[in-house]
Amino acid sequence: MKALVYEGPRKVSIKEVPDAKIEAPTDALIRITSTNICGSDLHMYEGRTSVEKGKVLGHENLGEVAELGDAVVRVKVGDRVCLPFNIACGFCRNCEKGQTGFCLTTNPGNAGAAYGYAEMGPYNGGQAEYLRVPFADFNCLRLPEDAEEKEDDYVMLSDIFPTGWHATRLAQLQPGESVVIYGAGPVGLMAAYSATLQGARQVLVVDRHPDRLKLAEQIGAVAIDDSKEDPVERVLELTGGKGADKGCECVGWQAHDPGGREVPNDTMNKLVQTVRATGAIGVVGVFVPEDPKSPDKLMKEGRIAFDFGSFFSKGLRLGTGQANVKAYNRELRDLIHAGKARPSWLISHRLDLDEAPDAYSHFDKRENGWTKVVLKLAA
Ligand SMILES: NC(=O)c1ccc[n+]([C@@H]2O[C@H](COP(=O)([O-])OP(=O)(O)OC[C@H]3O[C@@H](n4cnc5c(N)ncnc54)[C@H](O)[C@@H]3O)[C@@H](O)[C@H]2O)c1
Ligand SMILES: [Zn+2]
Ligand SMILES: [Zn+2]
Repeated sequence: MKALVYEGPRKVSIKEVPDAKIEAPTDALIRITSTNICGSDLHMYEGRTSVEKGKVLGHENLGEVAELGDAVVRVKVGDRVCLPFNIACGFCRNCEKGQTGFCLTTNPGNAGAAYGYAEMGPYNGGQAEYLRVPFADFNCLRLPEDAEEKEDDYVMLSDIFPTGWHATRLAQLQPGESVVIYGAGPVGLMAAYSATLQGARQVLVVDRHPDRLKLAEQIGAVAIDDSKEDPVERVLELTGGKGADKGCECVGWQAHDPGGREVPNDTMNKLVQTVRATGAIGVVGVFVPEDPKSPDKLMKEGRIAFDFGSFFSKGLRLGTGQANVKAYNRELRDLIHAGKARPSWLISHRLDLDEAPDAYSHFDKRENGWTKVVLKLAA
């Protein structure tokens, strides 16, 4: 089958690889029809992870069930399904509690598995014609009769819509509150969108890419361009000097200043400065246990200089981690089905799988207008 393969820093290619296949009786084989490129893929693309050469990338997958293992009972051949980026067993201690991003059995020795991702188990990704899905009855989210018509919305259920939602839940956002979000990439935009759906009174979004900030404004958020003004001063000004009620980190350890210099603690310390005393912060931007290639001395060992004294003095709370997609994807699917959510609004490009290497390069440079790429595979 054809697949997008990681070959080294800033080198991905479309190659012929062995077909994905059923390996366990609980597996499903999915014929992929839509699969997105994610900001998380860029950490690997840039050579900043331990991902091995030859890995098929792609964890934001949607398609049609092509074949099933003998033990699958609920999912049927022909069902259209969206797959959470987390691969979860459904029966371990964490899965039982809904913490499917931290499954204890699918990536033994670690908590959490995913398709086509560094340190997340041996699984190939879905930027390919076919994808093997373990524990199919648990992991497949079945889609309703408008699956094809709203495919561009439903594919966002694989990751960024639930992840943006998760950021606001980790921050314990309540209706009527204000929230400040750092990062207007797909994840930050989905956090802003989720906050709006949840009835936030004021949504402030900080980034420096005009095209992305414009999308934030389209959903009623206030865009703050940190290349033009001090975001801390601006947030304080807009919140009566107190700071927003809640905050979301949607950038991660490769946070940088508008000039491109990496400053891994930038967003975390700005959150401490711009969330009001007793507020809470949700961190979904990825931070890693080590990054030997980081230009920052502390970050090489997975550390940041965090303003813990101010954080403590303000009585702030912090929630972190991979999104537990299954904790939200059913209800978010139903919002889409009911016409109350349309996350496809942020898609900038719909391309063929063959165009993926080129798309990685554009998206990696955060070129103007490259917000979110969906790869389409013909039947
Ligand atoms: N926790 C999860 O489950 C989960 C899921 C998906 C993605 N992620 C992570 O979320 C993060 C964002 O993903 P994305 O797809 O939106 O990626 P992205 O790289 O396209 O977007 C990041 C945005 O942050 C902006 N930015 C960089 N430094 C900044 C700073 N100092 N202040 C303000 N904005 C800054 C960039 O300009 C960019 O627009 C990544 O770290 C990704 O790995 C986490
Ligand atoms: Zn993703
Ligand atoms: Zn589990």
